[in-house]
Amino acid sequence: MVDLTGQYQRLRPEIDEAMQKVLVRGNYINGDEVKQFSGALEDYLESKHVISCGNGTDALQAALMALELRPGDEVITTSFSFVATVEVIVLLGLRPVLVDVDPETFNIDPECVREALTDRTRAIIPVHLFGQGAAMDRIMEIARSHGLFVVEDGAQSLGAVWQQDGISHKLGTIGHIGCTSFFPTKNLGCFGDGGACFTDDDQLAERLRMIVNHGSRKKYFNERVGMNSRLDTLQAAVLLQKLSYLDDFILRRKKAADIYLEGLKGIPELTLPMQSEKAEHTFNQFTIRVGNGLRDGLKEHLRDWGIPSMIYYPVPLHRQPVFAPWCKQNSVLPVSELLSREVLSLPMHTEMTNGQQDYIIQAIKDFFDKSGS
Ligand SMILES: Cc1ncc(COP(=O)(O)O)c(C=O)c1O
Repeated sequence: MVDLTGQYQRLRPEIDEAMQKVLVRGNYINGDEVKQFSGALEDYLESKHVISCGNGTDALQAALMALELRPGDEVITTSFSFVATVEVIVLLGLRPVLVDVDPETFNIDPECVREALTDRTRAIIPVHLFGQGAAMDRIMEIARSHGLFVVEDGAQSLGAVWQQDGISHKLGTIGHIGCTSFFPTKNLGCFGDGGACFTDDDQLAERLRMIVNHGSRKKYFNERVGMNSRLDTLQAAVLLQKLSYLDDFILRRKKAADIYLEGLKGIPELTLPMQSEKAEHTFNQFTIRVGNGLRDGLKEHLRDWGIPSMIYYPVPLHRQPVFAPWCKQNSVLPVSELLSREVLSLPMHTEMTNGQQDYIIQAIKDFFDKSGS
């Protein structure tokens, strides 16, 4: 699905040098690179504050902690996402309200958000799934008119641009707090776990800085309950080098996506990812929908040809047993459920070759030729 070592080999001299500097210097926690990386990401995102942390899940947790919500407060988010988004809501004693998604973008449907509002609603977490922005204009409008916080889960979308009123914004900088992950397969991946929160709000930034560092501003003086969630200096050194390539990484993903889109067009059972001028798709994943109940057959066929593929996500979150206490037994979210039966993600990364993609396209065409379409 990815070629992490291929990318490392291409950038090896500068990454090795940056890591060596940290190893020799020895300040493995909160070393200079951590601050330098936050500053560089602030410039890249045009965000006032970047607070790095241990991973994307912690970033979401810290964001919700910084909002100082109270137990039982409701947080609306999507049912079609990675578990982390809902996990942190539950961990903090908040109430997750899971809603359905748009069938074309797979992102939270603002109309469903509107229908789910109650007088306990305090926040919305849109997830920019697979690298494409949720409908931030409509979500921010709902949030403004109901006095809600918006935390953007941009784990899969770092670097993506959202156009609004002729102005380009980086996703993650539109809501009150944006969160991202530097998990190795993300748009900007490190060599382990890493994450960050972004905000333009000075007060939220100060709280976030404390939260990720045991709730303290000054060592051994603890002002609030926090976490131990720091970005390692080594990871920051890697990310600092890789950040200057982020736009190129995204370009490479988009070029690979164009090849898939061209090669797979005209197959009636397939719905290919949609792109819009407003919401740039950075193709952290290239996810197709396979109709007529053929998804699992196609997956098997690809495996027979030696091609990996993944189902993100096979069970929508409102159907996960762990979240049953917060989801009505009979609640049906038709789009999320349909997508779980139809989606298939194809190999997608920054090092894809034309030869690899031709082979994958040929394998898919072969499957549909044989299935009689
Ligand atoms: C949408 C989404 N949110 C949150 C996370 C959590 O990020 P991490 O794995 O860095 O904790 C992920 C990671 O896969 C994700 O895809």
